[in-house]
Amino acid sequence: MRSTPRMDVLGAHAARLVDRRIPELVAEDPVRAAGRALRVGPLYANFARHRLDADAWQALFGLAGDAGVPAAIRALFDGAEVNASERRPALHTALRSRLGAGAVARDAHRLAGEVRARMGGLVAALAASDVTDIVNVGIGGSDLGPRLAVDALRDLHSGRFRVHFLANVDGSAAQHLLRGLDPARTAAILVSKSFGTQETLLNGAILRDWLGGGERLYAVSANVPGAEAFGVDAGRILPMWDWVGGRFSLWSAVGFAIALAVGMARFDELLAGAAEMDAHVLGAPVECNLAVWHALVAVWNRNGLGLDSHAILPYDERLALLPAYLQQLVMESLGKSVTPRGEPVDCATAPVLWGGVGTSSQHSFFQALHQGSDTVPADLIGVVRPAHGYTDNHHALLANLLAQAEALANGHAAADPQRRYPGNRPSTFLLLDALTPQALGALLALYEHSVYVQSVLWDINAFDQWGVELGKKIAGDLLPAVRDGSDAGVTDPVTRTLLAEIRARG
Ligand code: F6P
Repeated sequence: MRSTPRMDVLGAHAARLVDRRIPELVAEDPVRAAGRALRVGPLYANFARHRLDADAWQALFGLAGDAGVPAAIRALFDGAEVNASERRPALHTALRSRLGAGAVARDAHRLAGEVRARMGGLVAALAASDVTDIVNVGIGGSDLGPRLAVDALRDLHSGRFRVHFLANVDGSAAQHLLRGLDPARTAAILVSKSFGTQETLLNGAILRDWLGGGERLYAVSANVPGAEAFGVDAGRILPMWDWVGGRFSLWSAVGFAIALAVGMARFDELLAGAAEMDAHVLGAPVECNLAVWHALVAVWNRNGLGLDSHAILPYDERLALLPAYLQQLVMESLGKSVTPRGEPVDCATAPVLWGGVGTSSQHSFFQALHQGSDTVPADLIGVVRPAHGYTDNHHALLANLLAQAEALANGHAAADPQRRYPGNRPSTFLLLDALTPQALGALLALYEHSVYVQSVLWDINAFDQWGVELGKKIAGDLLPAVRDGSDAGVTDPVTRTLLAEIRARG
């Protein structure tokens, strides 16, 4: 694929570096191992194992300058209309930081604080009730962020509630979940920015019926009238706003389930960790800005080296849901191929993002990472201090994390080709001091900012997701055919054949 004149600058560096070996680059530069690293609060990131030299780094910083990254970051915080196709700002930073200048960002921050206070009241009221179980009903950004944070912070749960998640429209998910719960002691939170998402409305209706009415039904939505019409009492609806994208929303009342699991104080710590990252990203020059580095390396691997997939490899069981969360954040935000002006983007954009937790993944797909025909760059993520006392296990975990990063980069020469490791597989090494709410907040905010910077470099809108609409529309058109058995409106011959097969076997 051709590239923009701005991206062309990477071509010459890529030609020079594409066959350079990472261990040689590291050996050549005695300060590289420690020098290509940044720390922000509890988060350390090392970029020494990328196929980049000092000149290429300079070119990347130049690219960030040419693309106007610092001004674009400022515009995000200040509430500029960065979501052009929907004519909206994207003010997720205002949910946790008071860094935006101007009325729009300040108002957003004030509103967020007011709703957080109301959310604290609802958390306290629920804690004083007989409720023991909470079901978060939502999908996409109304599920993945809270689900990740609740799981990641499991060691800090207050123990007051068990928190469950129901996302898929597949009825077996609802059946399986509800089988183990008592409707008299369960509350449901229907989380949907639009309050128009099919899965959430169907599952919400199941919960409403199962609970026997709206008494223990809560909602989080930007469509408050929609939630009320569904049967949720106004006093139990927490608003969100069109200036928060679903996949950027866990810091809002979408995080209600997180607050119920860990308490408001820890929820605030999560926000504080993100706010620390916000302050860094807004204030640091591109040459020492962690989110900008992370984004530039992503763009280098994608556009300089032409690598089309990226692995997220957390070495902590509590971050097992991170790849799924980042799949939405990265692929829904960056899976675009036109500019905000509707012109085709002339460089490759979002890689396929996937991953899994270490060490378990070492015994499944790591074979392909080490000896497969494709090079897959990776983010390896570790936690220094565990929250358990099994020291031997933790030492083994850290040794494996370090070993895999080394093996991917350095490879191994062997006479037998079957036993040869090509190496030269780039990776970023991220370390959290401990998996605290602050560190988790900082980590997730880093990825949010990196995604936004990548969108600026690629000249795409990170905040819309028109690509998900067509399938929803066709599903709506096909529902009568599936439900009523009539082929009226079914135009595609393959779909007609498949419907006939379903009916024959149904
Ligand atoms: O279909 C995609 C999407 O709109 C996501 O962007 C969003 O996070 C998810 O659906 C859920 O949307 P809502 O919160 O409006 O139910």
